Amino acid sequence: MNILLLGSGGREHALAWKLSQSQLLKNLYIAPGNAGTAKTGTNLPLSADNFQDIRQAVLDYHIDMVVVGPETPLVNGIHDFFLADPDIRHVPVIGPVKQAAMLEGSKDFAKEFMNRHGIPTARHKTFDKSTLREGVDFLHTLNPPYVLKADGLAAGKGVVISKSIDEAVDELTRMLMDSKFGAASQKVVIEEFLTGIELSVFILSDGLHYVTFPEAKDYKKIGENDTGPNTGGMGSVSPVSFADDIFMQKVTQQVIMPTMAGLQTDGIEYKGFIFFGLINVDGNPYVIEYNCRLGDPETESVIPRLKNDLVQLFTAVANQSLHKETIHTDPRFAASVMLVSQGYPDAYVKGKVITGEELVSDSMVFHAGTVLNPETDEIITQGGRVMAITSLGLTMDEALKKSYNTISLINYDGKTYRHDIGFDLT
Ligand code: AMP
Ligand code: GLY
Repeated sequence: MNILLLGSGGREHALAWKLSQSQLLKNLYIAPGNAGTAKTGTNLPLSADNFQDIRQAVLDYHIDMVVVGPETPLVNGIHDFFLADPDIRHVPVIGPVKQAAMLEGSKDFAKEFMNRHGIPTARHKTFDKSTLREGVDFLHTLNPPYVLKADGLAAGKGVVISKSIDEAVDELTRMLMDSKFGAASQKVVIEEFLTGIELSVFILSDGLHYVTFPEAKDYKKIGENDTGPNTGGMGSVSPVSFADDIFMQKVTQQVIMPTMAGLQTDGIEYKGFIFFGLINVDGNPYVIEYNCRLGDPETESVIPRLKNDLVQLFTAVANQSLHKETIHTDPRFAASVMLVSQGYPDAYVKGKVITGEELVSDSMVFHAGTVLNPETDEIITQGGRVMAITSLGLTMDEALKKSYNTISLINYDGKTYRHDIGFDLT
């Protein structure tokens, strides 16, 4: 089978690495990919957001399946675009239709969905320009800190947590009246702050059945001990120690099953990954957010623990036969540490030559913001997040040690990373 994978991050390199191991795969194409995915298949210089170009590539390369990594094409309806076109409608798309992707594309939609189907989440209300005053009144009914969320996609930056009421009122005003997050903050969800430790749970759904992937925890802050600004993710680990059988049973019964049932009740056919961003509040799971895709950098520690053939699982999604599949998980621990560019998540430098990858033997190197310079054959930095270093070990400590040893082999100017991934779990 010929597969086209959309995206260019560490998540996509991990997926490409896994797909390329399948006997069922003939050719793998990645659009646009990075210097890492180029080693597992053929990169196509196309944007994942340009549906016409993707359509043409599907026809030119006789693609049998499209796997969508990031959320933007899904929220913009790439699956629906395929279904509406007689020339490509036979090609299964792994990733939900637009209406289903609203679980990520609109926080208000997701909150209404959870309330309708009895899924535990923070108490909330949604406001727009015309109800700013009511929004301010609602803030006064809550205790600090205050959580304000832009309704739409805001590249992971749309959540603001304010410590004081004055700051929260200011933020709400900026979001609604000054379009702080553009169209994404035309509506703002204000919700109660939940205290607990977060984790990410992933299922793959074929619309009727689902399988659960290994859970993971990501580290979002740039600084050690979870300090400083949020990033796209500085590392991840899997499994998550507090996600024991009892907790995961609650996740299944209180979150996953009602979500699947809710989608069916609402007449939404969901084919693809559902990412539950959860918080453990006194032993009980609450949904912080839904995403319509795998997490990045969680994928870089989840996929190496998956023993199944991923092409087979995706084929079962297309055929609605996931009930015949069982997930087999490597019991070892995975630890993934992200190397980033100096300055990230603010303005950062690019174009630095990366050396040392050929010395790595104990870890997997998943590229994110990298590109091959075809003239010099050098791999250079191209983004804020540069590469994820993932290792497996019999203990979390062993996995972490391997990843940190590997990091000492890889070099580029301004190499930056957190030294404490997993610090709160070991
Ligand atoms: P989101 O984009 O919805 O995942 O939110 C980004 C981050 O904000 C989450 O990963 C949490 O760390 C934090 N957050 C969001 N909602 C809440 C909440 N209700 N209570 C506490 N923290 C939250
Ligand atoms: N790691 C969080 C995300 O992918 O949104």
